Amino acid sequence: MSEKKITAHTKTFCLIGHPVEHSFSPIMHMAAIKKLGLDYVYIAHDVHPDNLEKAINGMRALNIKGINVTIPHKEKIINYIDDIDPLAFQIGAVNTIKNDNGSLIGRNTDADGGKKSLLDAGCKVSGKNILILGAGGAARALCYSLAKDSNHIVIANRTEERAIKLAEDVKKHLDAEIKGKNNSKTVLKNELKKADVLINTTPIGMYPNIHDVPVPKDFLRPELFVFDVIYNPLETRLMKAAKEMGCQTLGGLDMLVNQGALAFEWWTGKSPNRELMKNTIIEYLGIK
Ligand SMILES: NC(=O)c1ccc[n+]([C@@H]2O[C@H](COP(=O)([O-])OP(=O)(O)OC[C@H]3O[C@@H](n4cnc5c(N)ncnc54)[C@H](OP(=O)(O)O)[C@@H]3O)[C@@H](O)[C@H]2O)c1
Repeated sequence: MSEKKITAHTKTFCLIGHPVEHSFSPIMHMAAIKKLGLDYVYIAHDVHPDNLEKAINGMRALNIKGINVTIPHKEKIINYIDDIDPLAFQIGAVNTIKNDNGSLIGRNTDADGGKKSLLDAGCKVSGKNILILGAGGAARALCYSLAKDSNHIVIANRTEERAIKLAEDVKKHLDAEIKGKNNSKTVLKNELKKADVLINTTPIGMYPNIHDVPVPKDFLRPELFVFDVIYNPLETRLMKAAKEMGCQTLGGLDMLVNQGALAFEWWTGKSPNRELMKNTIIEYLGIK
């Protein structure tokens, strides 16, 4: 289908965060919009936390059709929307909003997007022991999406109380085996002897600190599946180390694309081309 011109009929999707300049969302969403010949544009807005309520009111007034929400607004935004789906409510974070005839409804597509990425990559979750590093937004989303199927989840976090709190929160809603611990070397070493899947949800290894690793290489076993949710760089030092140890690995790009594609489907009722979204980002990274 041919690309639409921006006219007075064109409607808007957007991303709000602070900062947002690093985001790949406009690139991948615009690629999907153009491919389907839809009459939308997707723009990123840097919204300072002090202006979040004003920004949301502005979006209502301007009839913005869909909003992605990123750091640091995913939790606070819940105060300013009209409705929230039960999973996003349990997670305590919204990353996608749909404007349904003036009513702003929140969802969390990181949860299903992350789980789909793991399953598509051939990682078995059912009955497996999972070690999650970090207890922030991404960890919360993944814990809720994986807890029911897995055998056991351990959350290892720098701030142990946050890991314990996340485990308790999940157990309030789901019948799951899940524990919160600190991220000391002793804990990591012991847990990695039992784990089938390791998921890094900390920013350790993210650009510009690309040489950092959240666990020593020699703690990794070839049987482990290692998922690093970081997408910049596409292959983190942890993934390189894991490959060298014979592990299967997955980076964060697929999760980024899947969470975006789920938002796109919800907003437009159309399935975007996920391969195109992914390749557009890879191409963009190559020429930057
Ligand atoms: N691929 C995707 O689609 C996707 C989606 C969401 C997020 N992400 C990525 O996931 C990462 C985390 O995002 P988030 O939203 O979960 O962030 P967040 O809510 O700020 O949580 C970050 C977590 O990492 C821990 N952490 C931060 N710096 C650390 C350090 N130097 N040493 C040890 N632990 C540290 C924090 O521990 P404390 O509790 O002790 O502070 C916290 O538990 C980012 O790299 C983000 O880009 C990717």
